Amino acid sequence: MTTAAQRAAALREQLHEHAYRYYVLDDPGIPDADYDQLYRELEAIEVEHPELVTPDSPTQRVGAPPDSAFEPVRHRLPMLSLSNAFSEQEVRDFHRRAQQRSGEAELRYVVEPKMDGLAVSLTYEQGVLIKAATRGDGRTGEDVTANVRTIHQVPLRLSGDAPARVEIRGEIYLPLAGFREMNRRLEADGAKTFVNPRNAAAGALRQLDPAITAQRPLGIVCYALGDIEGFRLPTTHSALLEQLRSWGLPVSELNQPAEDIDACLDRYAALQAMRAELPFEIDGVVYKVDDLALRETLGQVARAPRWAIAHKFPAEEASTRLLDVEFQVGRTGALTPVARLAPVFVGGVTVSNATLHNMDEIERKDVRIGDQVVVRRAGDVIPEVVRALTEQRPADVHRVQQPPQCPVCGSDVIRAEGEAIARCTGGLVCSAQREGALRHFVSRRAMDVDGMGDKLIEQLVGSGRVQSPADLYTLTQAELAGLERMGEKSASNLVAALERSKHTELGRLIYAIGIREVGEVTAQALAQAFGDLQPLIDADEAALLAVPDVGPIVAQHVRLFFEQAQNLSVLQALQDLGVNWPSIDIAAKPAELPLSGKTFVLTGSLDTMTRDEAKQRIQAMGGKVTGSVSKKTDYVVAGADPGSKLDKAQTLGVEVLDEAGLAALLDGAG
Ligand code: IVH
Repeated sequence: MTTAAQRAAALREQLHEHAYRYYVLDDPGIPDADYDQLYRELEAIEVEHPELVTPDSPTQRVGAPPDSAFEPVRHRLPMLSLSNAFSEQEVRDFHRRAQQRSGEAELRYVVEPKMDGLAVSLTYEQGVLIKAATRGDGRTGEDVTANVRTIHQVPLRLSGDAPARVEIRGEIYLPLAGFREMNRRLEADGAKTFVNPRNAAAGALRQLDPAITAQRPLGIVCYALGDIEGFRLPTTHSALLEQLRSWGLPVSELNQPAEDIDACLDRYAALQAMRAELPFEIDGVVYKVDDLALRETLGQVARAPRWAIAHKFPAEEASTRLLDVEFQVGRTGALTPVARLAPVFVGGVTVSNATLHNMDEIERKDVRIGDQVVVRRAGDVIPEVVRALTEQRPADVHRVQQPPQCPVCGSDVIRAEGEAIARCTGGLVCSAQREGALRHFVSRRAMDVDGMGDKLIEQLVGSGRVQSPADLYTLTQAELAGLERMGEKSASNLVAALERSKHTELGRLIYAIGIREVGEVTAQALAQAFGDLQPLIDADEAALLAVPDVGPIVAQHVRLFFEQAQNLSVLQALQDLGVNWPSIDIAAKPAELPLSGKTFVLTGSLDTMTRDEAKQRIQAMGGKVTGSVSKKTDYVVAGADPGSKLDKAQTLGVEVLDEAGLAALLDGAG
């Protein structure tokens, strides 16, 4: 049995270590939520057993002792911290206590965002910045004047009527854009990245070389006053904030007065909703009694004032055990590693699954099964595993292996060179990819099955009636007529459309079966090169690479597709059910394509397709698309807002097509 004294000692030990890493090394070992939990546990023990409180308990001080690298600065007035509330009830309790102590039934507040940065104190004498210090342990901080001077938002001289001497308190922070950019550079240099913007800001501020601080886009928000001499103070905090603003100090635009505690809670909800869109991090809101005289009455406890409280947002990061990693197959066949976690409360909900994105990310983060990992859930974003706490790694962890076979259909999984994503190659048979594959198969430029809409495919797949494209050709009119939104007439039309689609072309079929990276143009090129399906199935890599438009990646995808026995069965079934195409005389040159020898120039924007699609379709018909108009140009296709190419076509007497003209040509040609 662990006694309360032993537990308190263990907690103190852990908290000391984490506080040192957090405040001095700017490199926290655990998420804030974990720290808060340990802290609260110690606090609770100390409340129950006051005799266990030691003078060096982390509950007895505000931060960490100053680092020796900087000169110590003794704060004239201690720099306090804030008590935290994690629930509405705790906020209401705070309010009730403040009402009782002040004797005021109605308390007005100012609600401010709680900036997630680090506290500084700025001292101005006769309006001139003479000293900037970190909070340190609340009594003594570090002299960071040279570094703070490099922050453009910090006025070196106050505007207007400045007091003889004033100490202003605020938060130095790093905007998210600056943080991401900074980490991007560190990563490119192979250096260690920062875990969050606050640590990055702390690291930047505590640089020994101010020139480095100057390169970091730090900002400041001012929210309080320290010691002041030679100035008549306003009577409210709101007026004080206005005063700071008029001195030229940045004050948050998000600050708002609140008539009562309910208005405070409303503002909390509003800021929480805005949180994900803000260009900087906030970790809660701060409620401050507005009346400065009442603040005097309320006073303070050891660590924090009684007139203010921080209402924290649910922590976006927490740590938990990674129990296993499973792979999910998406609609395009992409395999996503999903972390199975010991349930953890994060971002306001209990999370037991989180994404790990892809194998590269797993390796980059060095995440292993069995690790204690940090899970992040920000706003409505899907929870993700952000890092492993490698220092706490147990001995029995093991590496995550990408499965060689698709967990859904058993087809081979490949990861093309240079791609982060691994994919299942069973496009025609994999149930995870079924709907997408069928939608593509029936589309106009593939098998062109008129009337086979997305909703219908959804029903057919949902009921299990259609599992592969071949099953489409076994659908009967009676069966179709029984489906939702299907009359006798449309059912018979659909059966006729399926029947018509059986007489197809090789290029269309190759495109329809959805081999990765094989678009229309490539499908046509493959059809031209091999003339029939079997030679394509049998083609080795060298033969594939000899085809125009086919590089090593496409060749690999084609090979893998035809190596899957299941894909071959579907192709066989299609033929058995009557799908057919004329074979192509491969001795003949592509000159036989309908638009062979014709040169097109595209200008302006088209309504029904992008310029790129138009280009692909023209090429698929054997036409050539060039960038500039000459006498050799056969057609200029002019969409909306055409450029000078249209004038040139008219000057040279080149035939001009509008969008309808192009469509007619493509349809006629196809
Ligand atoms: S007032 C005596 N206002 O949060 C009250 N603090 O967890 C002094 N902070 O030490 C603090 N935004 O570093 C105040 N609008 C805000 C704040 C804020 C962030 C920080 C500050 C403080 C810590 C307490």
